[in-house]
Amino acid sequence: MNRTSIIYSFLILSFLTMISFSFYYYQKAKAYDQKVEERVVSETALPTYHLALIGEEMNHEYWRLVGEGAKKTESEYDVIVEFESPKRSNPEEQLKLFDMAIKSKVDGIIVQALNDKFIPFINKAVDEGIPVITIDTDIKGSLRHAYIGTDNYKAGQLAGEALVKDTGGKATVGIITGSLSNTHHQQRVEGFIDVVKQYEGIKIVAIEESNITRVDTEEKAYEMLIEHENITAFYGTSSYNGIGIVAAAKSLKRQDDLYVITFDNIDENLQLLETGEINAIVEQLPYEMGQKSVEVMMDILDNRGVQDVYHTDLSIIRRSDLPIQGGSST
Ligand code: BGC
Repeated sequence: MNRTSIIYSFLILSFLTMISFSFYYYQKAKAYDQKVEERVVSETALPTYHLALIGEEMNHEYWRLVGEGAKKTESEYDVIVEFESPKRSNPEEQLKLFDMAIKSKVDGIIVQALNDKFIPFINKAVDEGIPVITIDTDIKGSLRHAYIGTDNYKAGQLAGEALVKDTGGKATVGIITGSLSNTHHQQRVEGFIDVVKQYEGIKIVAIEESNITRVDTEEKAYEMLIEHENITAFYGTSSYNGIGIVAAAKSLKRQDDLYVITFDNIDENLQLLETGEINAIVEQLPYEMGQKSVEVMMDILDNRGVQDVYHTDLSIIRRSDLPIQGGSST
């Protein structure tokens, strides 16, 4: 082999090696790109089911907990839950959200059914093949598949029993309810009255509504205390009632001689329980309601049988139950 042939052979060999390497790396890069593409597609793929959860108020601590419970459960199924509520309590706006959910053809609707006006919307959704679960507040006479939440009449009874026990059966009571027209508040008041009316020493002298705000509660409680100087106890049926009642009592320097029972163990209520300005709280389980509602909706969508009603637990908390007190009574 002469020198020229050696050089040519070398060049041809180098060229072939280069081509083989390029081909090898091209194939490798292609396989990698394909994997990345597959991963991106699987990560962005939409879950099979899309649910709407419609509550009373978007930035309310109680509803935030309901939403968190639902979101936590979402990760256990092939489902996405969209939590929507009016900014401020407004049943008409809630119905608009309900209508939008029906029109968007979601796979299931979980809704707080505040009053009779919700019935046609529930029935329309069910007629169109969208299952509906009521949460927190149930409405009788609709086609809803199940209710998940507090037994609101029983919650009222528990509040009545706690007030009887803590006041020794002697009290002049003012009631501040979240709403006079929403079913769950009506039931909480009914349950309470059915218990306390059995005690001669207990008189209810006034009942007003707060539209679930602390400001309205404070105003109504203030007026009640002026009009009925003999009030010795307050019963509040929604989360911020206790806070508003305490504020009114403070402005009139009545905070030390009033008994206050209210709903929900939100942070501010627990702080007032610790200071003794609230005496008892009816504890509901909003987080568990959110969790259970998604579980039950998935059972419906996967054709597993469900119950008509799932009542979440209820309890009364007093200062002596707070961990900070070491469980000792005061
Ligand atoms: C009720 C909810 C209400 C919330 C806000 C709770 O006690 O169960 O229906 O939205 O209070 O006040």
